[in-house]
Amino acid sequence: MTTREPHPEHELALVVEKKESLADGVVQLTLRGTDGAELPDWTPGAHIDLVLGDDLTRQYSLCGDPAERSVWQVAVLREEAGRGGSAHVHDTLTEGDTVHVRGPRNNFRLVDANRYLFIAGGIGITPIVPMIAQADAAGADWQLVYGGRTRASMAFRDRLEQRHRDRVSIRPQDETGLLDLATLLTEPDGETVIYCCGPEPLLDAVAAQCAQRQHGCLHVERFTPKVGAGEGPRQSFEIELARTGTTLTVPDDRSVLEVVEESGVPVLSSCQEGTCGTCETTVLTGVPDHRDSVLTTDEQAANDTMMICVSRACSTRLVLDL
Ligand code: FES
Repeated sequence: MTTREPHPEHELALVVEKKESLADGVVQLTLRGTDGAELPDWTPGAHIDLVLGDDLTRQYSLCGDPAERSVWQVAVLREEAGRGGSAHVHDTLTEGDTVHVRGPRNNFRLVDANRYLFIAGGIGITPIVPMIAQADAAGADWQLVYGGRTRASMAFRDRLEQRHRDRVSIRPQDETGLLDLATLLTEPDGETVIYCCGPEPLLDAVAAQCAQRQHGCLHVERFTPKVGAGEGPRQSFEIELARTGTTLTVPDDRSVLEVVEESGVPVLSSCQEGTCGTCETTVLTGVPDHRDSVLTTDEQAANDTMMICVSRACSTRLVLDL
């Protein structure tokens, strides 16, 4: 079972020191503390929340160097069909602005391995960049297959090719078509650990290709919910908040998170769609009905933790460590 980091929840006011274009439709923000102090440490795969306005909090992977403690960097793709977060970053945020930031949090940690295969699609390259640096520094054998719409749209392409030409395969879709996953993942291989980040169809296709591989060899990062993850019957159930002994009813049309917040108990949350891990809550008794896109299959099966923004209950009562 992957061990995620506990819930560090720093909220910082950082200044946009630099905003620069990285690729077509992608800008990189360099964020620095207002007092010049070191920022909290982080590990490759971590993301932060940018609080961009009321009901406008978005998660972005840190893509800089964890050893550089004075700044954080994120790269943001303009999502034409998005809900406004990326448009705000692209169109409104400027150098010198202050932005509130929460985290970092890591649901996508690099496990120790001798060999890695990194598969990135589009802006999914962002968590992979510091992972590659860590794997390379550790002397691991690794390969990156990086797909994108066009060369010009692929952030970090030049840097990756210059530093690691023999390990990096750049696959622009307009030149080479979709990634040939059947060939790439043809041989079941018990040694290679696979990390994949990108659009939903890529994640699903990689998962399908890896179905015959050793359990746990594939790690994926999602910033949108899995298709169908939040669906299923909705029935009311009871929750007991163990720290106060309070019992609450979660009606069929409310989430656990909403009910707990309404009771006056403060709970951390961010995405509210089961992708970021912020609302993860320990389950002391009862069986959750997992509807998140964060926990691995093994973690869900353990039933000792749940994302209360989306997950519900299989049992009539859950006792939560709240
Ligand atoms: S708030 Fe993001 S997983 Fe629940």
